[in-house]
Amino acid sequence: MIQSEHLSKQIQRKEILTDVTTTIPKGKLTAFVGPNGAGKSTFLATISRLTDYDSGEIYLEEEMIQRVKPKQLAKRLAFLKQSNHIALHITIEELVGFGRYPYTRGRLTKEDQRIIDWAMEKMTLTAIKQRSIHTLSGGQLQRVYIAMILAQDTDYILLDEPLNNLDMKHANQLMHVLKELVEVDQKTIIIVLHDINFAASFADYVIAMKEGKIMAEGETSKVITSTCLSDLYDLPVTVHELEGQLICTYFK
Ligand SMILES: Nc1ncnc2c1ncn2[C@@H]1O[C@H](COP(=O)(O)OP(=O)(O)OP(=O)(O)O)[C@@H](O)[C@H]1O
Ligand SMILES: [Mg+2]
Repeated sequence: MIQSEHLSKQIQRKEILTDVTTTIPKGKLTAFVGPNGAGKSTFLATISRLTDYDSGEIYLEEEMIQRVKPKQLAKRLAFLKQSNHIALHITIEELVGFGRYPYTRGRLTKEDQRIIDWAMEKMTLTAIKQRSIHTLSGGQLQRVYIAMILAQDTDYILLDEPLNNLDMKHANQLMHVLKELVEVDQKTIIIVLHDINFAASFADYVIAMKEGKIMAEGETSKVITSTCLSDLYDLPVTVHELEGQLICTYFK
């Protein structure tokens, strides 16, 4: 599990995270939801040690995250940022291979290649693995970045809006891959989602953030309610139950 205790962060005297205390459960799929600017990406970046904070503490399985050596952290936790730009002329396979860097420092073994092949297969990239990343569509490139994160083979996988640019089929396929990683391989997955229906259908646990604070958290059915989501987004949201699934509508 990852715990944050009284975590606060200011940027240019503006409070971005305020007293964030939460426990992200191990071995579950946790979705972060909430409006633009709520602090979701900043929170994920702090728990990945990509950005610092002013006060509070973060623990990765009871160990203060500041005490975990960066090399060790890269073998335990992978983080896909909301936007990624790599200006290199490399193939899909080579970029996915970057995920193995914490283990290999560049020299790939047969086992590394097996994991790279597995990650490309999971993201349906095998048939185009020799294509240069510059030739890919937005959704194809997003899938390559996700495959790179999967190739890192960490217990904790943090994905900031991974459904960006993905069509319905590939979004759905990714969520099933993540669910399988949780249920079969006991991975802990933390994902920022704007499509509330994906959170409703796939998450075990939901953390709702607004204005730098946690507004609600708990098992999915506790947070995915009309009242909670309407408050969160300042928008009338209705939650229905359809074929055993929670479905949110907000188009009126
Ligand atoms: N480097 C920075 N300089 C100034 N303000 C920043 C910086 N990084 C983040 N912020 C501000 O912090 C707040 C939280 O940003 P953050 O990116 O964490 O939000 P978010 O919940 O991920 O939003 P979105 O859903 O739009 O991605 C925003 O008001 C943002 O403008
Ligand atoms: Mg964000």
